[in-house]
Amino acid sequence: MKRRLGTILLSLLALVAVASILSPPTKSDKAGRPLLSGARVDPQVLAILERSCKDCHSEATRYPWYSYVAPISWLIERDVAEGRNHLNLSQWSEYSLQRRERSLSEIANQVKDGEMPLRQYTLIHRNAKLSEADVNAIFQWTQVERARLIAESLGSQR
Ligand code: HEC
Repeated sequence: MKRRLGTILLSLLALVAVASILSPPTKSDKAGRPLLSGARVDPQVLAILERSCKDCHSEATRYPWYSYVAPISWLIERDVAEGRNHLNLSQWSEYSLQRRERSLSEIANQVKDGEMPLRQYTLIHRNAKLSEADVNAIFQWTQVERARLIAESLGSQR
């Protein structure tokens, strides 16, 4: 019985190892791009976004050791792909004006409602949790930056 269990465990381990080797997380070749290029954002807010959002909403995802272990790697890969789809801070300068305005509103809503960062992330990354001051700082920034974009677009129409 004991030997059987050992064999099963070893087989499982081998499976995990093979799956991990076959599907490592894919690091972006655009990882070096700056976040929020073209936006006006003070270093304090940028630091919060880098700490709490960057891993899923930019090309500069950090991959800790467990992100190489299947099936955790698959879950992380899915969150990162979906996160980037919704909001990619490394592509900010390529977004249209409307998209940037919409993203700023969405960021404001997500942090105010406590929806972001995702819970499965803050469970492991305790320091990614947003304090009330963090939420306020991000919220304020989204309002100021939106107003700036709108003023800029009105100015360029004249
Ligand atoms: C663990 C990965 C992860 C982290 C960390 C994370 N997000 Fe997300 N985010 C996602 C995923 C996945 C989605 C899309 C699915 C969803 O809405 O749950 C998303 C969606 C969003 C959206 C789009 C919502 C919409 O209305 O379409 C915004 C805006 C957003 N996140 C902002 C943030 C901000 C701001 C932070 C940091 C404070 C953050 N996220 C941290 C994974 C993450």
